[in-house]
Amino acid sequence: MAAVFEATTLAGMRLASRIIRSATHEGVGDGDDFPAKLIERYSRLAAGGAGAIITGYAGVSRGGRAWPNMLMIDDDAYIPAFRAVTDAVRPYGAPLVLQLAHGGGRTEPAVTGEAAKAPSRYRYKGAGSTARELTAGEIERIIAAFVQGVVRARRSGFAGAQVHAAHGYLLAAFLSPALNRRRDRWGGSTENRFRIVGEIIGRARQAVGAFPLLVKLSAYDFDAGGLRLDEAVRLARLCEAASFDAIEVSCGNDNFFAVVRPRRLPVAAILELTPALREAPWLKKKLAALVIPRLFPLCDETENYNVAAAAAIKAAVGIPVSVVGGIRRLAAMEAIVAAGQADYVSLCRPFIVEPDIVARLREGRQDGSRCIDCDYCLVGVGGGPLKCFYGRLPAGR
Ligand SMILES: Cc1cc2nc3c(=O)[nH]c(=O)nc-3n(C[C@H](O)[C@H](O)[C@H](O)COP(=O)(O)O)c2cc1C
Repeated sequence: MAAVFEATTLAGMRLASRIIRSATHEGVGDGDDFPAKLIERYSRLAAGGAGAIITGYAGVSRGGRAWPNMLMIDDDAYIPAFRAVTDAVRPYGAPLVLQLAHGGGRTEPAVTGEAAKAPSRYRYKGAGSTARELTAGEIERIIAAFVQGVVRARRSGFAGAQVHAAHGYLLAAFLSPALNRRRDRWGGSTENRFRIVGEIIGRARQAVGAFPLLVKLSAYDFDAGGLRLDEAVRLARLCEAASFDAIEVSCGNDNFFAVVRPRRLPVAAILELTPALREAPWLKKKLAALVIPRLFPLCDETENYNVAAAAAIKAAVGIPVSVVGGIRRLAAMEAIVAAGQADYVSLCRPFIVEPDIVARLREGRQDGSRCIDCDYCLVGVGGGPLKCFYGRLPAGR
């Protein structure tokens, strides 16, 4: 049997295949019925053969809530709800890993009730407001919030936790030389920019011991003066030294369409599925349609686009590495694992269109994903539960 369908142990977790569901914001965190919705989604993924399931990101503190419908883990009161989810999904066998995040400069005051905050003052592409610089005291509180998040993940019955340090969110912004221009102990050298992540894993490890702790890293971005692969390799080594159990390699910081790459920019979807733009006057929409392509230049590579970066990181560390980004064909998955470019492959959009994609590949029913990389799922999930639009706007739009 191909190595991708072989059972493995990752930081003590038993995975039935090497194909992992990468963290995917499900857009259901705004209702009290979110456990039932998560149980339905994760049960389908687990029954469909996902090796492990990384949840959509869960906010570790109120100020880090990136969307009104984001999952939250900033209070012990959430533990029974998440416990219901982990208890219901456990019989399927696939480990469930809670992703922990702080939205940083990608948050909006209208959602959090407070100013957006980032390592340094910054306005993200397309953001409604400019983030202000965090104080040293606020950084300490955010570290404590992540540690609490890890503790709550374990108490909720998750098999592990993943710290989200990719995609321009708060921790990724600290790692990026373009987004972190601080002159104190939290900025400057690679070690200083890594310090917040190091403090989180160090204190979390003391609190939870051998509990599996994973990290998702952007290995490079396209920002002027941003993160480049050689520095990401050093960051990956720091992650290993700080006791992370595995690294998931992604990319991109300010340009989200470099993270989740579409074949064409989904301008119509942005105009019709983004709550802030849907009801906007005609002229504003017209202007937005002109500005969007300038803000978000497309990347040429849309398949397997982080494999070379993952291979460089894999060669530099001793802990398992997974790679995510445009992986669609079984042949590519097999080649990545066979060549030792990564130990695992992580997929996001393919699981949205086909939650049982792993079973389909394993049984030879398909040799790849049906995903067309339209990115409507990504645009639509801010305003409603995650779904596959398959490149079509809902009727009437
Ligand atoms: C709808 C949607 C939601 C996402 N939510 C998250 C998330 O919560 N956390 C995260 O780390 N990445 C998130 N991502 C990024 C994916 O995990 C992944 O890194 C990216 O989509 C590239 O993988 P793919 O080509 O297999 O889709 C999201 C992507 C999409 C399309």
